[in-house]
Amino acid sequence: MIYQPVVNRSLGSRIWDIDGNEYVDVLNGFGSNMFGHNPPFIVEAISEQLKRGYELGPQHELAGEVAKMICELTNSDRAGFCNTGSEAVLGAMRIARTVTGRSTIISFNGSYHGINDEVILRGTKKFKSVPAAAGIMPESVQNMLVLDYGTPESLEIIRQRAHEIAAVMVEPVQSRRADFHPKAFLQEVRKITSDNGCLLIFDEVITGFRTLPGGAQQYFDVKADIGTYGKVVGGGMPIGVIAGKKEYMDALDGGFWQYGDGSVPEIGVTYFAGTFVRHPFALAAAKAVLLHMKEKGQALQEHLNGNTAWLAKEVNDFAASLNIPFHLVHFGSLFKPKYDIDLPNADLIYLLLRQKGIHIYDGFPCFLTEAHSREDIEFIIRMFKEALSELADAGFIPGFGNNTSSNGASMNGNGQKQNDATLPPVPGALLGKNPDGTQGWFVPDPARPGKYLKLMLN
Ligand SMILES: Cc1ncc(COP(=O)(O)O)c(C=O)c1O
Repeated sequence: MIYQPVVNRSLGSRIWDIDGNEYVDVLNGFGSNMFGHNPPFIVEAISEQLKRGYELGPQHELAGEVAKMICELTNSDRAGFCNTGSEAVLGAMRIARTVTGRSTIISFNGSYHGINDEVILRGTKKFKSVPAAAGIMPESVQNMLVLDYGTPESLEIIRQRAHEIAAVMVEPVQSRRADFHPKAFLQEVRKITSDNGCLLIFDEVITGFRTLPGGAQQYFDVKADIGTYGKVVGGGMPIGVIAGKKEYMDALDGGFWQYGDGSVPEIGVTYFAGTFVRHPFALAAAKAVLLHMKEKGQALQEHLNGNTAWLAKEVNDFAASLNIPFHLVHFGSLFKPKYDIDLPNADLIYLLLRQKGIHIYDGFPCFLTEAHSREDIEFIIRMFKEALSELADAGFIPGFGNNTSSNGASMNGNGQKQNDATLPPVPGALLGKNPDGTQGWFVPDPARPGKYLKLMLN
């Protein structure tokens, strides 16, 4: 039922499908869009680059400039480019193994690190790593150890094994669990890894540049050895970035040397490359993004984070007032619908929101951008409220309270009018006679087939 809209136009907070339907976008390129669709400062930068050329192969004049700005914002010594977040993760893991000479990398259940074989996996209770998708060979995940995220048990295991581990890789705030912010855990992992010559990799593909200019590392006050980035910093162009401490980043190119003075790259290098890396369009868009961010300062992220907190509070207060077990969880400008209990049809909310003009994907995190006006956010809030009320009224999710049907009768969570004595108060209830001869509602007794239990209504 969740059809894919096919779009052919976008601007600001909106996208339009080929039937002319308009949507307020909250998917926003899986978080790659932080400034709205077609922001003039990025369009201009790419158009200008298009005129100049998009040659691949020779070093591009923008590469150094963009790397320098990335290092400034992320508090890193060096930065290298690739085309996707997945490639950045692959590179970071390869660097960790190159510099430590160790094989095993620790990751965590519930984290997402992209599409490389090694990170599409889950752990078992016996600490066996198993592929989580068809076509991935069990052997490809044998150098991964998957632990539960943020638990004291995991800390203990990291403590015991750190001396033989190449890296601990975290998605600092898991996009699918946005309300879990394990600061003390991350700070302790930092300490253990530093003490044991093991790298700490922060996968900041979502949180980087979005949560704060310095990403989750700034938020948690933890300096990782290597951060992986993508999405936002590419301004809509495909990009991946690895940024981190010199002693690790040097494994990509051998470190500093100078032509003509006899110096040579001294660090053992690994291999990392790609036909399209440092693509001039991506560099031009990234430069525009980084200049925009520098100009606006941290107020840019704080404004979006504040809007997201407001949106979540409005929707959450409404859900609570109707006893609907639903929350928008959020971190920075990411938010995600979450039911507090398992409900078989609850995901119909995604269909309803689509029909109401919100571009959202079932199960994916949502994002606010600079282009969402106050009116846009009020519209999103209103549509969430409408969708939740309608689902409760139709009996798909529990909830009741101040919602009213079109004729003003009060509705319960199953969509029945509470003031209409002829309608069953719960599905399947039957009208029968009480021992005193008055009418009452009865439901089948699951323990005594053919017998009925009296419903106690207050
Ligand atoms: C935390 C994280 N790491 C890595 C990736 C992979 O990035 P990409 O899809 O650009 O390969 C993603 C993508 O959503 C991500 O959220």
